Amino acid sequence: MQTHQFDVVIVGAGGAGMRAALESSARTRTAVISKLYPTRSHTGAAQGGMCAALGNVEDDNPEWHTFDTVKGGDYLVDQDAATIMANEAIDAVLDLERMGLPFNRTPEGRIDQRRFGGHTRNHGEAAVRRACYAADRTGHMILQTLYQQCVKNEVAFFNEFYVLDLILTHDLTGREVPDGEDVAVSGVVAYELATGELHVFRAKSVVLATGGAGKIYKTTSNAHTLTGDGMALAYRRGLPLEDMEFFQFHPTGLAGLGILLSEAARGEGGILRNADGERFMERYAPTIKDLAPRDIVARSMANEVREGRGAGPNKDYVLLDLTHLDPAHIDAKLPDITEFARTYLGIEPYTEPVPVYPTAHYAMGGVPTNVEGEVLRDTTHVVRGLYAAGEVACVSVHGSNRLGTNSLLDINVFGKRAGISAAEYAAGASWVDLPAEPAAAVVAQLEEMRDRPQGERVSDVRRELQQTMDTNAQVFRTAESLRQAFQDIQVLQERYSRVSVQDKGRMFNTDLIEAIELGFLLDIAETVVVGALNRRESRGGHFREDYPKRDDESFMEHTMAYRRQPGVPVDSPAGSAPKGEEVPPPGPGRPVVLLGTKPVVTTVYQPMERKY
Ligand code: FUM
Repeated sequence: MQTHQFDVVIVGAGGAGMRAALESSARTRTAVISKLYPTRSHTGAAQGGMCAALGNVEDDNPEWHTFDTVKGGDYLVDQDAATIMANEAIDAVLDLERMGLPFNRTPEGRIDQRRFGGHTRNHGEAAVRRACYAADRTGHMILQTLYQQCVKNEVAFFNEFYVLDLILTHDLTGREVPDGEDVAVSGVVAYELATGELHVFRAKSVVLATGGAGKIYKTTSNAHTLTGDGMALAYRRGLPLEDMEFFQFHPTGLAGLGILLSEAARGEGGILRNADGERFMERYAPTIKDLAPRDIVARSMANEVREGRGAGPNKDYVLLDLTHLDPAHIDAKLPDITEFARTYLGIEPYTEPVPVYPTAHYAMGGVPTNVEGEVLRDTTHVVRGLYAAGEVACVSVHGSNRLGTNSLLDINVFGKRAGISAAEYAAGASWVDLPAEPAAAVVAQLEEMRDRPQGERVSDVRRELQQTMDTNAQVFRTAESLRQAFQDIQVLQERYSRVSVQDKGRMFNTDLIEAIELGFLLDIAETVVVGALNRRESRGGHFREDYPKRDDESFMEHTMAYRRQPGVPVDSPAGSAPKGEEVPPPGPGRPVVLLGTKPVVTTVYQPMERKY
């Protein structure tokens, strides 16, 4: 086992991780640990744009952007954080421009901007051009740009290293933190794919930037690597996860496959139609139609299918129509996604509408942080030295439904903030001692899994997890469907305890890694379902058919999910008790998902009915 020491260690080399690394490396010794080569990170799959109220193409201002974000998130957004994000958006875009990002330009040479769902002029009057973009490869360009800058700054990259544990001074799953004691991070344990060797990274600050968890679903726009690692690592050490029940379904996944077709297609004039050729969004969102926020469009599409107006032989998708657009315009603005339609469905978008259906896309919830990126261990206390940014985190700028293009913005604004905070903290902090055997838990876990002669297959358990999540915790949910998902997950958790891997070797053992990732997925899926059962209302991306209305009186609060060993007092750190469905007890000896709440920060905008 090797031990390394850096002032700041960043876990994840997507946009948030590298934006943090850029700031941190300008100030102190910084390492980035990534399960992929950085330029293969999932930020590279983000397509349509990054928003900022530049007002380059038409009148705009950050206050409208803040309002749209709050309303789009169905008022569960923390408004202090959303204000910061919208105000800092302009510099975030200009920073990238100065680093060399090749944004599309207006004829006058300014950064061009296009329309995206839920972004409006003057509080909902009409759609506004707010998304800065590089064709439909904006995330790819951000990733390349940030990577070049990190290399220039001599960031130490550890690629194809999998972080398997977070080293904290306290394991919060088993006991409360005595008054006056601080919880601090002292490093992480990582597994090197090439050799099977374990590495301990000692650090004064650790930044989690591991992205999302879309692989809890079968139909998803997410890459295979999006297995909720950072969320699960924090959660397993007893740190809370916030608002996990809110999962975004992007309206336009390629039907049957889930591959993302950017919302930019509608921003550039694409129209959704049902089997009758009707532009059905006119009925659901009369003002901004196809450019309503994603939760509304995804639900409307699913509803068209449920009511028998779906297209295709099984009437199970709707159509994205680009045929009225000039092919030259399509080629200039949407080259990649139109190629996806040709390659994966054999459809020519110049002349044929493209079959689309909602695809699991983005976790609004995650590891709770404040606006400086510091991770919270309950509603008020931070974990010293621990930071998070990007999709793994929940600073709550997205509330219960994120607006398109706010994620590339989030990673840049809060990645930068987390990087600065982590480096500044490291400059003033003393080293926290590592435990005597920092990797003991990981060693035991790996040996047990590798040495088990035979057992359940990883691929079987994962497929069944994804199936139950697709069936029971999708766009529409009920107590019955969620209870089914919960029961299925309990059975799968039990089967997971018997999982074995075929590859017993040490080098490039991806079999072993997939088994570990499956454990993360199961834990994350459980928090999604328990949170969704508890929230007996409909808000943003969480729609309960049995409670179809938003209920501000009972549920205008964030959900906090804590993992606790059986028998640890339920009223310990969680705040108020859950008030929703009774969750059946987990299997014997299994930890409990304990729910609490956290207040929503409302500064300016009082909740109103969402109309578009
Ligand atoms: O539709 C898209 O291009 C995705 C953007 C986003 O998720 O922000």
